[in-house]
Amino acid sequence: MNVLVLGSGGREHAIVCSLAASPLIKHIFVAPGNGGSAPGVVNIELDIMDGREVVQCADEYNVDFVVIGPEAPLVAGVADTVRAAGIECFGPSAAGALIEGSKEFSKDLMRKYQIPTAEYAVFKEEAAALDYLEQHPAPIVIKADGLAAGKGVTVAMTSEEAIQAVRECFSGRFGKAGSKVVIEEYMTGPECSLIAFVDGRYMIPMVPAQDHKRALEGDLGPNTGGMGVYSPVPIVSEYEYLEMVSLMQKTVSALISEGIDFRGILYGGFMLTPTGPRVLEFNARFGDPETQVVLPMLKTDLATILLACSKGELDELEIEWSDSWAVSVVLASAGYPESYETGKLITGIEAAEALEQVTVFHAGTKQDCEGKVYTNGGRALNVTALGDTFEAARQQAYKAVDLIDFEGKTYRKDIGARALRGREAWEE
Ligand code: AMP
Ligand code: GLY
Repeated sequence: MNVLVLGSGGREHAIVCSLAASPLIKHIFVAPGNGGSAPGVVNIELDIMDGREVVQCADEYNVDFVVIGPEAPLVAGVADTVRAAGIECFGPSAAGALIEGSKEFSKDLMRKYQIPTAEYAVFKEEAAALDYLEQHPAPIVIKADGLAAGKGVTVAMTSEEAIQAVRECFSGRFGKAGSKVVIEEYMTGPECSLIAFVDGRYMIPMVPAQDHKRALEGDLGPNTGGMGVYSPVPIVSEYEYLEMVSLMQKTVSALISEGIDFRGILYGGFMLTPTGPRVLEFNARFGDPETQVVLPMLKTDLATILLACSKGELDELEIEWSDSWAVSVVLASAGYPESYETGKLITGIEAAEALEQVTVFHAGTKQDCEGKVYTNGGRALNVTALGDTFEAARQQAYKAVDLIDFEGKTYRKDIGARALRGREAWEE
């Protein structure tokens, strides 16, 4: 089988590496991909937002199966166009992807089906939103309704910040994505992501993971796309895990009741509040960087699972996980998430990967014709290590990080440190 993977991040490199190990797969095309490679993988140029171009490309390269990585093509309906052309596709339709593409849609779905989440109200006009803020003082959370590349959420600790965030949304900072604004109750607790394979009827959860969204150590500084991640999550209780799985199942049932045929990934972002897990957000695709710790622990063939989702046959599969721990540290360019330089030569990747149980996933990188790798984005690499214990995985990841170098190399030295201190660390 030939596969076409759409996307260019660390998530897509992790997907491609897992697919490359599958006996089912002959060739993998990745559009546009990055500087990361894997056996039998070819990067191609393609407008991944244009479903017809994706179908044409699939025809040209005899592609049997299209796997869509990022949210934007899903929300734009690329999966619908690919399926309509008779090609197997992993990723929900535009109707399903709305669970990520519109906060209003996802909050209304949760309200209708009694899935615990923060209380909220939706506004189309600035004046009404500002009135609401007068009745609901900070801390409070302001969210642009549409896709804003992870930048549309402000956790406002003061009324001034809340007012400014509302004004920014309505002044067009996020374009159309900010023309509606969701104002949400502020929740507290550790966060946990649970990602599930969904085949339109059934869902199978993966191992839970915890991202580190803030740029600086101690969970300070601006929000980023994620600076590091680990899996499973030692501070989650058995009760909380089972509750998260049950809420994911409830959400899949809610989608079915709404007439949505959802085949792909449902990503639940949870906050483990004092009253139990509550949903922060849903995404319609694999998490980034969560995928870079979760897939290395998957023992079952990924191609078989993704195809079963696409065909509605997930109930026939048993999915097995390694009982290791995984930790991944993001190596970023100096200045990220604000402005940063690119084009810096990266050395030491091979030496890092020569360490036992270490994989270096490429995110913002590019490779020249001699095989040299350069930075090409804010988050350049995800250095993942597996270990028999959480601490062993952490130590191995940081040992690998030390072997890699490039000008401006920036990373958090405390990935997983809070979890090592236990649940109490979230009350400090
Ligand atoms: P989201 O993209 O909706 O997951 O929001 C991004 C980040 O903002 C989350 O990972 C949380 O850290 C924070 N956040 C979002 N919603 C809330 C909330 N209702 N209360 C507290 N923090 C939140
Ligand atoms: N790690 C957060 C996300 O993928 O949205």
